[in-house]
Amino acid sequence: MATGIDYKGTYHIVTFGCQMNEHDSEVLAGMLEDMGYEPAGDLKDAGIVLLNTCCVRETAENKVFSLLGRLRRLKQEKPELIIGVGGCMAQQEGMARWIRQAFSYVDLVFGTHNTYQLPELIGKVVESRSPVQAVWPGAGSITENLPVKRKAGVRAWVTIMYGCNNFCTYCIVPYVRGRERSRRPEDILDEVAKLGREGYKEVILLGQNVNSYGKDLAGPIDFAGLLEQLEHLEQDGGIEWIRYMTSHPRDFSDRLIETIAASGKVCEYFHLPVQAGSNRILKKMTRGYTREKYLELVEKIKTAVPGATITTDIMVGFPGEEERDFHDTLDLVRQAGFDGAYTFVYNTRPGTPAAKLAGQIPEAEKKARIQELIKLQNKISLERNLEVEGSVQQVLVEGESKTGSGLLIGRNRGNKMVVFQGEKELAGQIVKVQITEAHLARLTGKLIL
Ligand code: SAH
Ligand code: SF4
Ligand code: F3S
Repeated sequence: MATGIDYKGTYHIVTFGCQMNEHDSEVLAGMLEDMGYEPAGDLKDAGIVLLNTCCVRETAENKVFSLLGRLRRLKQEKPELIIGVGGCMAQQEGMARWIRQAFSYVDLVFGTHNTYQLPELIGKVVESRSPVQAVWPGAGSITENLPVKRKAGVRAWVTIMYGCNNFCTYCIVPYVRGRERSRRPEDILDEVAKLGREGYKEVILLGQNVNSYGKDLAGPIDFAGLLEQLEHLEQDGGIEWIRYMTSHPRDFSDRLIETIAASGKVCEYFHLPVQAGSNRILKKMTRGYTREKYLELVEKIKTAVPGATITTDIMVGFPGEEERDFHDTLDLVRQAGFDGAYTFVYNTRPGTPAAKLAGQIPEAEKKARIQELIKLQNKISLERNLEVEGSVQQVLVEGESKTGSGLLIGRNRGNKMVVFQGEKELAGQIVKVQITEAHLARLTGKLIL
């Protein structure tokens, strides 16, 4: 062994992509620890390196390829090292074979529907010392009670449903995550209660479109119903805050708004990806709503939940997006007054309907548009943050700010970052902070005792 370290019993997972993937990595870690593996402090010291991949945009894939390229050297130095590639990218048709051809030193490729098989697959690799591939085209039933090794933190992710049925024309997620499958409410309630007893104060319910929750279950349950049950969950120790992501604006019912407005636990935070402000483009994306419907929803939420934080995802440069369409997006952004937006340049995903559309937009034009959009949104985000100056906010304290100087960092119910002076022992608690100054990406304040 070149390093002189016994690296065989340790693992390191590198995760790309969304929170769903981050949480899947927590399950992968849980399974590895159940097998007796321990976390390696550093990738270089690990006996098993897993890449949990994303393919939503080409940039995400390129990061995986470049890391795989760098791992070649490590494998040469440590032939015993096991390298595994899982997640959304591995699930794409033909990709597993391609990865194994291009990176012949990869030992294991497994798809999103094969995650729970990890112990068995690693066993096969160790036994046979030859590459193993497991990518099922479709999902089986949900496997409950998998071990989870959560990342240290004050909030916990809980998957409530898998997959997506929407097939927005630009998006690869439904192809790599399969059809919608909801977990049974009793399994979710049990997990949340357990997390509360473990001391977590906040849970984030995960699904590609949580508003479809329950449609595939036999019982009469929907997302609003699930939130109501969680609101009244006893034995949950201290779960005080509930968040969820992501909500499809098309399915955000009045009943759901009323449920959230009446709830003490569900935070006043709404992440509602709009994608575009032009009806022509929304139609081509098959989003299922118009700009008018979307803005109506935003108004309903603002009326029912005063002070709500609303954020969004927006894409520029969808095929055929003309200057006037882009201006419709800018105009919608102004009217909605978002607290924040994740902005993306449209990226062609092979196999999706939009990849075949005429009128692909030149990269330079897309860049110019996204810059204009970001400039506008930054101005609005700052204005929205200025509105809370002087107010007192509840903040779930995460710990010390990385900048040092004894500052603590946390988030308010609206998911905004708050920085203030305080003792590090407050980590994990919900405290009151008066906001003294608003910035673009954070609020600063003073602890109220
Ligand atoms: N299920 C969630 C988000 C999934 S992906 C939802 O429906 O909102 C997260 C974001 O990535 C999307 O909201 C979209 O803005 C962006 N995205 C998806 N496909 C993309 C593509 N082909 N090019 C650029 N951005 C994309
Ligand atoms: Fe993709 Fe649309 Fe499903 Fe979101 S709702 S994951 S954007 S297909
Ligand atoms: Fe990426 Fe898969 Fe999430 S494609 S965004 S990791 S669902």
